[in-house]
Amino acid sequence: MQLIDGKALANRIHEKVGKEVDELKQVRNIVPGLAVILVGDDPASHAYVKMKAKACEKVGFYSITHSMPDTISQDEIIATIEMMNNNPRIDGILVQLPLPRHIDANRILEVIDPRKDVDGFHPFNVGKLTAGLDGFVPCTPLGVMHMLEAYGIDPKGMDVCVVGASNIVGKPMASLLLNANATVTITHIFTKDLKAHTSKADMVIVGVGVPGLIKEDMVKEGAIVIDIGINRLESGALVGDVDFANVSKKCSYITPVPGGVGPMTIAMLLDNTLKSAKKR
Ligand code: GUN
Repeated sequence: MQLIDGKALANRIHEKVGKEVDELKQVRNIVPGLAVILVGDDPASHAYVKMKAKACEKVGFYSITHSMPDTISQDEIIATIEMMNNNPRIDGILVQLPLPRHIDANRILEVIDPRKDVDGFHPFNVGKLTAGLDGFVPCTPLGVMHMLEAYGIDPKGMDVCVVGASNIVGKPMASLLLNANATVTITHIFTKDLKAHTSKADMVIVGVGVPGLIKEDMVKEGAIVIDIGINRLESGALVGDVDFANVSKKCSYITPVPGGVGPMTIAMLLDNTLKSAKKR
């Protein structure tokens, strides 16, 4: 079994982005800029946004975080996004999800200029990904593709089971794999027999937020297992959606939590923002 070290890979990407930022500054006088919009006081969202801001600082980006109370109106959020759309120092706009119930997240995401949509959640970029065209790709599934490539794993022809069908993870993950010529099965909360699908797969990719969902008897010998879940247990421990201690014994490759996909999500956010800045 080989562990896929997302943290080490993410650090290499941070270094590469940092160097390119220095070059952009010197040659074109451009400092990539990211605007983050954070609504409400969800502790996990606050923690993620803090990590994103810290990563921006590390590679030399300009970044601003607009923190708003959860009593804010949809129109006020939209006005902030429009301001960022028109701000020439901003190359990337990210609205941290989930948003409070009274806000229509789909409406919010549609307001972001697709050229600054570094999360790849705007329907324009979702369409581009589906059609196999170049656009912004959501950071978590993009990070998974980078990890596979770095470890010489080509999904072409593989049977891949994606567990979870969210717009943030499962659906874009499936599109990327399909574009890479894998045979993809997407399972979700209404799937009748999850094990029947996961146990046949050459690769299982799970991101649903259920600790220990994927057990040893659900994966075949030698399978590749990618764990996108991040769950905080009552004990304070951070675990994924895979029963790591038992599943890892059967795998050819597996990602740990923490230190697997998580750091790659932030690395891809930096990479997407740099990509946008280069197009200024
Ligand atoms: N919430 C959970 N994951 C993400 C992500 O990748 N981007 C944003 N904006 N919100 C999230």
